[in-house]
Amino acid sequence: MRTQVAIVGAGPAGLILSHLLHLRGIESVVLEQRTREHIEARVRAGVLEQGTVDLLDEAGLGKRMHQVGMVHDGIELRFDRTGHRIDFRALTGGASIMLYGQQEVVKDVVAARLATGGDLRFEITGVALDGIDTDSPVVRFEHGGTTHELECDVVAGCDGFHGVCRDAIPAHALTTYHREYPFAWLGILASAPPSAEELVYTYTQRGFALLSMRSPQVSRLYLQVDPAEDLANWPDSRIWDELHTRLATDDGWSLTEGPILEKGITAMRSFVVEPMRYGRLFLAGDAAHIVPPTGAKGMNLAVADVAVLAEVLGHWYTSGSENTFDDYSATALRRVWRAQHFSWWMTSMLHRFNDNDPYQAQLQLSQLRYTVASRAAAASLAENYVGLPQLRKG
Ligand code: FAD
Ligand code: DHB
Repeated sequence: MRTQVAIVGAGPAGLILSHLLHLRGIESVVLEQRTREHIEARVRAGVLEQGTVDLLDEAGLGKRMHQVGMVHDGIELRFDRTGHRIDFRALTGGASIMLYGQQEVVKDVVAARLATGGDLRFEITGVALDGIDTDSPVVRFEHGGTTHELECDVVAGCDGFHGVCRDAIPAHALTTYHREYPFAWLGILASAPPSAEELVYTYTQRGFALLSMRSPQVSRLYLQVDPAEDLANWPDSRIWDELHTRLATDDGWSLTEGPILEKGITAMRSFVVEPMRYGRLFLAGDAAHIVPPTGAKGMNLAVADVAVLAEVLGHWYTSGSENTFDDYSATALRRVWRAQHFSWWMTSMLHRFNDNDPYQAQLQLSQLRYTVASRAAAASLAENYVGLPQLRKG
């Protein structure tokens, strides 16, 4: 079996890459270990940057997003029981964000690929890469009890943080950067109308809380918890009590409860490997980098990576010259490091660190007050949140 680009992983990175390559007349096969139903139901991120919205539109993937997604022109930062709006549109010269669940993006791209004969293989196991430092790599995998060999020109490792592609690169060729945080997020999806029109990021002495949403009937809420926390210790009533306490204000605002549809705990880390290419293997999305979710950047970075990768591969197939291969990593990493800094900064400002460090807490409060009082500081948050334009080499 042969294709031009073998793509491992059907998350946002792998699926959107397959679609962008198709638009350039380049063939691919997508290999995914889970079922289609699983990837279409996996609740994860929900905030699309302006640039992600524009890219999905240009790629013809934006129809349902515009029908059911929600455009937000700002967010609220809440601390000392008071909310402060950060007006993205005013501070960025007109940019906004779109609330649209990651699994909805995944559904849209799967449908688009299948409608044009895209080759997506689900429930495959045992992916192993061979010859990535040659001109003709091979991806071996098992499907339905049979071993297959997929010959290709290029492999795209879009298999997330726990995938196998990154490990196919010799350790000496990679530099790894990482940071662990002393907290995690407990996230819920609830059948309750959102209690605010825009997202609310809240700092309290009890820890961080975030109010987000998926539709006019469905809220998405998060609480900072200990990374070793067991979900069994969080019956629904305790989750709602803690959300009420952390989100409380002095102006009579109230939180609407509803049946909890889903809950989970996500660890938080920052992680980058450089470079994002080794020979004919290109890493994209979570396979190459992870951010803590506070800046809502994870999925947006995955999409930005594959936009660059599709351009680089398109150039290579039309010109025959590999001279832009190195540009992939250099270009993608400029955006990745900006998002790393922004996500670390938002995380550091909004979470409760060590209880015994009142100095740290005062610094965070000072940073919050400055961010909402200074137009320059608010504009810096706003332009990073809605997403900076593609960052070029140089
Ligand atoms: P993924 O979406 O992880 O896709 C990788 C795909 O590869 C998966 O479908 C996986 O099944 C497949 N795969 C893995 N290994 C193999 C293999 N060996 N063979 C074949 N297939 C394989 N970001 C936010 O901004 N906000 C959030 O609230 C948020 N919540 C998150 C919650 C969780 C539990 C997780 C894990 C991530 C969350 N993120 C969040 C991050 C965001 O969802 C990711 O950044 C985004 O999914 C990255 O897309 P991707 O395509 O690179 O990777
Ligand atoms: C959501 C997730 C985030 O990480 C974030 O910063 C904002 C919103 C969400 O799932 O809606």
